[in-house]
Amino acid sequence: MKNEAFKDRPLCLSGKGVTKVFGYGNKANTAVDHVDFEFHEGELVSIVGESGSGKTTLSKMLLGLLSVTEGEIFFQGKPRDISNRKKKKEYWQGIQAIFQDPFSSFNVFNKIDTVLLDCINMRGGKHLPKEKKIEMMTEACSFVNLKFAELTNKYPFELSGGQMQRLMIARIFLLKPKILLADEPTSMIDACSRATILDMLLQLRDEIGMTIIFITHDIGLAYYISDSVYIMEHGKFVESGSADDVILNPKAAYTKRLISDVPKIHEPWDLSTVG
Ligand SMILES: Nc1ncnc2c1ncn2[C@@H]1O[C@H](COP(=O)(O)OP(=O)(O)OP(=O)(O)O)[C@@H](O)[C@H]1O
Ligand SMILES: [Mg+2]
Repeated sequence: MKNEAFKDRPLCLSGKGVTKVFGYGNKANTAVDHVDFEFHEGELVSIVGESGSGKTTLSKMLLGLLSVTEGEIFFQGKPRDISNRKKKKEYWQGIQAIFQDPFSSFNVFNKIDTVLLDCINMRGGKHLPKEKKIEMMTEACSFVNLKFAELTNKYPFELSGGQMQRLMIARIFLLKPKILLADEPTSMIDACSRATILDMLLQLRDEIGMTIIFITHDIGLAYYISDSVYIMEHGKFVESGSADDVILNPKAAYTKRLISDVPKIHEPWDLSTVG
């Protein structure tokens, strides 16, 4: 389904003039500069930009992990209220993230069972019988091709990078958030696992209708997977729209440059210049 079809769907997450300034006075650095956005239910949105363009800063504001200097974020059409711990916890039932570095996402002292049990508890399953919880954890692991029986009693650091990434997706499978924010989840794994993980995310989106916000440098990948694309340069969105409009018919010079760095979108690789 392409971008136009999503315009009629309810808004999931949106923002007006969202800005983040780090530091003060002559040291002030505007990392995110008055961005507007509208993400709809079930939409897959990519935010594309080079290193330092403000993608992670924006993600952290969306997640409520970083305060917004100026502007406002709306959740399901209403101003987002995360003014106290209880409200923050409620908000986090709706939005979850997969980070660039999976090793930073887990408490290293928690065994994998605990990581997964926490997800069940967060979804109100605390009082379910033990067998039911094991069944749910086993199902979540098998969704990402991990064997729960082999993971019990292990710590996250005993897993490989790829297994860790999959464990993160198993968490999402249990949490079933309305919105999943994925900040370059595939950057540290090989191309084959990368495709598998993307497939898993897309399958999850279809199953539970979540909105996916995908943060990446890779405009080719964004084109391949997204309904909509937002192009970010120096903290600003220089262009946005359906993936087809933005990437097949780019208007901003920056978008054109990003695309020209990825020859494979329009033309075959020219191997004659290699080596
Ligand atoms: N906690 C912080 N304190 C001060 N400046 C910060 C902080 N976090 C980020 N910045 C600055 O904000 C700008 C945007 O950084 P950000 O991490 O959002 O970029 P990015 O687009 O995610 O880059 P990458 O693709 O490399 O992950 C950079 O200039 C960075 O130095
Ligand atoms: Mg980043």
